[in-house]
Order: sequence, then C-alpha cells, then structure tokens
Amino acid sequence: MTQKSTLAHPLLRYDGTARIVHWLTAILIVAVFCLGLFVDAFPPSWEDSVVNTHKLIGVSILCLVAFRMIWRRNHKPPPPEPIGLMLQRVSSISHVLLYCLMIAVPLVGLAFAARSGQWIDFGLFSLGPVSVEDEGVARQIGEIHELLAYMLVGVAGLHALAALWHHLVRKDAVLMRMLPPK
Ligand code: HEM
Ligand code: HEM
Repeated sequence: MTQKSTLAHPLLRYDGTARIVHWLTAILIVAVFCLGLFVDAFPPSWEDSVVNTHKLIGVSILCLVAFRMIWRRNHKPPPPEPIGLMLQRVSSISHVLLYCLMIAVPLVGLAFAARSGQWIDFGLFSLGPVSVEDEGVARQIGEIHELLAYMLVGVAGLHALAALWHHLVRKDAVLMRMLPPK
C-alpha cells in the first residue's frame, strides 16, 4: 500500500478491494438513480423490466455496502492525509452520512416495493411482497425513498466535488488515495 509519491511524504492508498468496491458502488448509485427518475421515459412495455432492474441494482448496492463494512473491520483505511482537523472532521462526517444513506435508501426502497404489493424477479427466483398492500402507506414510503435518494446523490455530489477540489486546487493526495497506482 505504501508507495513513493511526488509529495513530501509517502502516499498511502486504499487497498485494491476498497477501491474497486468504492468505484463500483458510485457507478451503480448513478445508474439506479437515473433508472428510478427516468422510468417514465422508457416505452410503457419496458416499465416492469426497468423497475425490476432498478430494484436489483439497489439490492446489489446494499450487498456491496454490507461487504464494504465487513471488509473495513480487518482492512483499515490508510491514516488520513494531513489536511487539518477541520477538513478531517467534515470528511469523516460525510463518509458516515454516505454509509447511512447507502443503507437507508435501498431498505426504504424494499419497504416501498413490499407495501406496493410488488415482486422482485432475481431471474432464478422471485421474492414476493412480504407485507399487506397498502396504497396510502406505500405512497408515503415512496416519498421518503425519493427524498433519501436525492439526499444520497446530493451528498455524493458534494463529496465528489470536494475530492476534485483537493486534487485540482489544493493539489494534495486525497483523490490519489482512491485511485490505482500508475
Ligand atoms: C441506492 C439505491 C436506490 C436509489 C438511489 C433509488 C432511487 C430511486 C428514485 C430516484 C426513484 C424515483 C422516485 C420518483 O420519482 O417517484 C425510485 C423509485 C423506486 N424505487 Fe428506488 N432507489 C434505490 C433502491 C431501491 C430498491 C432496493 C428498491 C426495491 C427493492 C427500490 C424500489 C423502487 C420503486 C418500486 C420505485 C418506483 C418506481 C416506479 O414505479 O416509478 N429502489 N428509486
Ligand atoms: C455515489 C457516489 C459516491 C459514494 C457513495 C462515495 C462514498 C465514499 C465513502 C463512503 C468513502 C469513505 C471511504 C470508504 O469507506 O471506502 C469515500 C472515499 C473517497 N471517495 Fe467517494 N464516493 C462516491 C463518489 C466519489 C467520486 C465521484 C469521487 C471522485 C471524484 C470520490 C472520491 C473519493 C476519495 C478521494 C475518497 C477517499 C477520501 C479519503 O479518505 O481520503 N468518490 N467515498
């Protein structure tokens, strides 16, 4: 993990597994958000498949986050870059918030699907609605799902801008910690 850098101190990167899971999750979050938002843009006959793909990607994100949390227990992230106490605090709080939202959005999505009487088709098997269909409650859960999804994408967007600011303006090693060695 330790590697010589152009900086005054050795560059410590996240390990390969953490980097792959980070970027894969980021791509899947953008994809699942777009599918959820633009489901009406597809031909009506595609709607069921698009919503099902949305659910499958959402469940995959939940699994990846669970894996990431278990992985972190035995593979600690590198010590923080010397960016100052204030920025370190903001960074840690935003990471915790991202974890909370990456768990909450799919869980509320599952509750939404269950309360709307929907199935999830996994190809080899399907999971049916686990609770009684209730349109009023489903609508409210759907609104919470949407609101949390916007919060997730909003916080992730700020997080990405912060990473670019570190790289392009402050010219420190924060972004490189999440990139593969050359
Ligand atoms: C990180 C994961 C997820 C994100 C970011 C996300 C985001 C969204 C967004 C933005 C919408 C559109 C809301 C609207 O305009 O009304 C939506 C709709 C929906 N989501 Fe998710 N979602 C995620 C995971 C899930 C999961 C795991 C499920 C269920 C298994 C799910 C079930 C649904 C359903 C049923 C809809 C309504 C689709 C429709 O018929 O219009 N979502 N989601
Ligand atoms: C949906 C999108 C994203 C999510 C949910 C996300 C989430 C996270 C989380 C939870 C961490 C903490 C480290 C860990 O536990 O693995 C992290 C670290 C990091 N992310 Fe993201 N990320 C996203 C997109 C991006 C993008 C687009 C960039 C770059 C432009 C980026 C750059 C970084 C960097 C540089 C770190 C390491 C920060 C450090 O600890 O020094 N992320 N990200």
